[in-house]
Amino acid sequence: MKTTQRILVTGSAGRIGRAAVAELVARGHIVTGFDVRATPGLPAERSIVGTLTDVDAMRRAATGVDAIIHLAATPDDAHFPRGTPPNDGDNFVSELVPNNIIGPYQVMEAARSLGIPRVILASTGQVIDGHLRDGNIPVTPESPPRPRYLYACTKVFLEALGQVYARQHGIAVLAVRLGWCPRDAGQVAEIRGSELFQDVFLSPGDAGRFFAATVETNQLPPFAILYATSRFTHQKRYDLTASKDVLGWEPRETWPVGADA
Ligand SMILES: NC(=O)c1ccc[n+]([C@@H]2O[C@H](COP(=O)([O-])OP(=O)(O)OC[C@H]3O[C@@H](n4cnc5c(N)ncnc54)[C@H](O)[C@@H]3O)[C@@H](O)[C@H]2O)c1
Repeated sequence: MKTTQRILVTGSAGRIGRAAVAELVARGHIVTGFDVRATPGLPAERSIVGTLTDVDAMRRAATGVDAIIHLAATPDDAHFPRGTPPNDGDNFVSELVPNNIIGPYQVMEAARSLGIPRVILASTGQVIDGHLRDGNIPVTPESPPRPRYLYACTKVFLEALGQVYARQHGIAVLAVRLGWCPRDAGQVAEIRGSELFQDVFLSPGDAGRFFAATVETNQLPPFAILYATSRFTHQKRYDLTASKDVLGWEPRETWPVGADA
């Protein structure tokens, strides 16, 4: 594997995207960001502003890269279980379908048609939420999906999509069930109040190093599901063995390092 990689990061202006971009740039990789807003930490010519469903923009951004780290998404349900229509606050049709179903499809299609050999897909621990709630832990990559709400359903689709493109088109795909990297002070407060949430906390530093490892590791399996969290505080909820075996990555930090950053 070349030491300097050309990497496209979608969702590069977001919470995890900024952490991934910062770590990749610090390691000397050539990073292009793709987001509906400008990406901090990248020069204007490498910060593409566009939406995933704009196929031409997506393909232009992906042309010539060695790997795609696909993070762009609507990162949660708005209000679920639903209230009373029509003011039920549901974001499935308005956001989750275009951003989390059609978006990943366009990313995998760009990878297939442009011959990009490696794609990393951001899934979530919410796909195995049922196991966590029932204490059926630690969850492993083999734990079958027990999704929380509709957002998690879109990530079950994302994992299946990655598996199909890996098998049918020979793209190395990792689907990463990410822990919780809080996006605002309200989320930090929620984590502070729960042992479960502290155990699945993911610091920006550990997230950045994780994504750097996904592009720097020489040989990947054709498809794998991995977990990424920081080190647990109370109980081991996610089995990180495969992340170490596949990527040589282990978390270094523990809640609340970087939570407020
Ligand atoms: N932060 C967490 O705790 C967490 C946990 C599990 C999984 N994830 C997943 O990790 C990824 C990143 O999450 P985050 O917390 O950084 O979210 P975020 O909302 O901070 O960042 C997502 C970014 O994607 C961009 N985006 C959304 N739709 C887009 C589109 N159609 N085209 C282009 N850009 C678009 C947004 O502008 C935003 O900058 C998401 O896929 C999310 O589902 C996050």
